[in-house]
Amino acid sequence: MKSFTKQFGPVTSVIGAQWGDEGKGKVVDLLAKEYDIIARACGGANAGHTIVVGDHKHVFHLLPSGCLHEGKQIVLGSGLVIHLPTLLEEIDLLQEHGIDIIDRLHISEEAHIVFDYHKDIDAALEIMRSKEKGQEIGTTKRGIGPAYMDKAQRVGIRMGSLDSDMRAELEQRAAFIKHAYNVTVHVDNELKQMQLSNNRIGKCIKNTAAFLHSSMENDQTIIIEGAQAVLLDIDHGTYPYVTSSSTTLAGALQGLGIPPRAVSSCIGVAKAYCTRVGSGLFPTEASEADATRLRDRGGEYGSTTGRPRRTGWLSLDDLSYVARINGFTHWNITKLDVLDEEHSIPFELQGEMQSMEGWTQKTAELREWKQLPKHAQKYIERIEKETNVPVAFIGTGQKREDMILR
Ligand code: GDP
Ligand code: IMO
Ligand code: MG
Repeated sequence: MKSFTKQFGPVTSVIGAQWGDEGKGKVVDLLAKEYDIIARACGGANAGHTIVVGDHKHVFHLLPSGCLHEGKQIVLGSGLVIHLPTLLEEIDLLQEHGIDIIDRLHISEEAHIVFDYHKDIDAALEIMRSKEKGQEIGTTKRGIGPAYMDKAQRVGIRMGSLDSDMRAELEQRAAFIKHAYNVTVHVDNELKQMQLSNNRIGKCIKNTAAFLHSSMENDQTIIIEGAQAVLLDIDHGTYPYVTSSSTTLAGALQGLGIPPRAVSSCIGVAKAYCTRVGSGLFPTEASEADATRLRDRGGEYGSTTGRPRRTGWLSLDDLSYVARINGFTHWNITKLDVLDEEHSIPFELQGEMQSMEGWTQKTAELREWKQLPKHAQKYIERIEKETNVPVAFIGTGQKREDMILR
């Protein structure tokens, strides 16, 4: 059994390399058993990270995927936007499964609160885009964009204010929001949510950067769990069809207040093919027949919204670009098993579609590199060659154990 902390060092990071849903949750869960702290840095409940343990499927939206491991410290960093009822629901759901995290949960006082009116504004803006531009972004309607708008405009309300009386502030916001978007802010309800949350999680709110720094000084190990993915990054992604946060490793470090030199490795996660939810460019999108086949085999329906994911082939050009931006030290290529029945596997390289022979054998549930069919090994080696990054993990199924470690 390899030691992950030896292989990936004391501060590792897991970053999505496509348009999200690559399987970040699963590899974080696998690594988490050997690390002390798991930290989410950016984004909000637009994320949906799935872990399958035995017959049970857990989907995390705000809490990081390492939660299932007892005793691990859980951090929600400054870069997050947090919808309070969603967070409480997630905490309760874990409790129903016998997992108590309150005593090991650390929430940044600098993280911003997503209120219900942010979600309503998100929906209103999508309707406006659809009317004015003929196309929505296809957001998750979790209020992410509007919450980051408030943050950038310096009118956001942060977790550190959870124990303060924000009535005057919210009433002022309500007047503006009604005027600008014709959205009603239910001030009493928002205040009630704040109070309820303060009673439950008030004691978890702190300076999480200081917590992480003192932990590192005490030789504690950390996994940074990226959310969303680099092609959805507000700067480096397919703007304007992106999310509103910085989804790169650099963005995650900013979100946590960790310096770049502290990071020992960065694991890029990519599917062996590609999916996207929402609108925007997708040059390798498959024909309807191919997409339907892959979608069905891969269960490609959103973990957050249930939407069918647009499905297509791997772009090695995108993977190379994304690997450079983040400085990936390793890949986790996931869902190789979904390609098991493909006779030919198309991929994009230098702007052209090419293809490799498929393996048309079962790789599902394989656990060792040497068990993989020769053509599957070749496909993985091609990814390594073209991106110049070694593949450390290969996903061969949904379950925790379905992973080849190289
Ligand atoms: P995340 O947002 O990056 O954590 O990914 P999601 O959880 O949204 O979506 C990934 C989906 O693929 C989940 O349903 C996982 O259970 C599933 N999954 C992850 N790795 C594999 C794999 O190697 N093979 C198969 N068949 N499914 C996988
Ligand atoms: P995880 O962490 C897939 C997409 C939305 C939409 C765009 C903007 O599970 O990989 P937003 O609600 O963020 O304003 O939507 O970004 N999106 C994701 N797609 N996985 C995610 O997270 C996503 N988070 C946002 O579908 O196209
Ligand atoms: Mg997801």
